[in-house]
Amino acid sequence: MTKPAISLAPMEGITDRSFRHLIVECNAPGSVAMTTTEFVRVSQLPTPLIQLQQLLGDKPAHTKTGIQLMGNDVEILVETARRAAEAGADFIDYNFGCPAPRVFKHGAGSALLAKPNLIADIVRHSKAVVNVPVSAKIRSGVEHDSNIEDLCKQIEDAGADLIIIHGRLKTDRYTDPADWSRITRAVNSVNIPVHGNGDAVDNATINKMLDETGCAGVMIGRGALNNPWIFDEYNSNSQRRTPRQFSDWLHHYADLMAVRGATPTQVLGKLKQAAKAMGPAGNIPFAHSLLRSNDFFSDLENLLAEDLV
Ligand SMILES: Cc1cc2nc3c(=O)[nH]c(=O)nc-3n(C[C@H](O)[C@H](O)[C@H](O)COP(=O)(O)O)c2cc1C
Repeated sequence: MTKPAISLAPMEGITDRSFRHLIVECNAPGSVAMTTTEFVRVSQLPTPLIQLQQLLGDKPAHTKTGIQLMGNDVEILVETARRAAEAGADFIDYNFGCPAPRVFKHGAGSALLAKPNLIADIVRHSKAVVNVPVSAKIRSGVEHDSNIEDLCKQIEDAGADLIIIHGRLKTDRYTDPADWSRITRAVNSVNIPVHGNGDAVDNATINKMLDETGCAGVMIGRGALNNPWIFDEYNSNSQRRTPRQFSDWLHHYADLMAVRGATPTQVLGKLKQAAKAMGPAGNIPFAHSLLRSNDFFSDLENLLAEDLV
């Protein structure tokens, strides 16, 4: 039996072309079912095709790559969706979950959770112009979760191919645990596939989410930064990698970012962000010592050597 789809969640500031490329490359072919770009904020005008092509980058063979759009103007979003499909996106994903105050204030992201008709219009009109699947990534509500079933039904009726539900409300903080019973409710309210999201960080939690909620797949955000091989570990039960392998991964990440034009400061910032995430999960146990480092790889090498003594 094929395993449920395990995908990389979109994360602004993280899931750029380099990161997505490396995640797909370091896991066995096909073990990352989908990746999605960071959100594209669509407001005054449709996003230029060239920008969407650059954002997408090269698409890997065995993983579906989607472009995520965020906005609230149906016409402008739909034209951007058309261009995103033309750019080569394997699917169009809509962000109906971003809780950032400036996004919410401008009526985008999670603000649309209170406007299910608008969500439905965006999905329906997009489906009419693109020939790739359309997904809706939602949080479970703004301040309460009582509309989950109605919202999911409206999204399904509008023709969406997939719902990804994050088990937090707009008002929840990332440190609040995701409530997976909300994922179960979404699963039970529609016939299209529902993927669960929120706090799946290793094999045990991925399996628990699948068993408890009945969702058709799991989308992993921060867990993939903690451990880039999380997909492989789930799909082929491979062992947790060693700190040396994590270090090699960081080298590849830095090389890829540099090749794609990132400045040394940008590269250092992203390396520290990754090391910070890998540290608490015990993958690079001494990562906290790197956070103030100016010579990241030389310090990492010394720490690795000390750790082995
Ligand atoms: C740094 C960061 C950036 C994010 N950016 C996006 C984004 O661009 N689009 C989106 O739909 N969700 C975004 N999210 C939310 C994640 O996709 C995901 O829903 C959330 O992190 C919960 O999943 P997790 O517990 O597996 O991390 C972001 C989350 C984080 C931590």
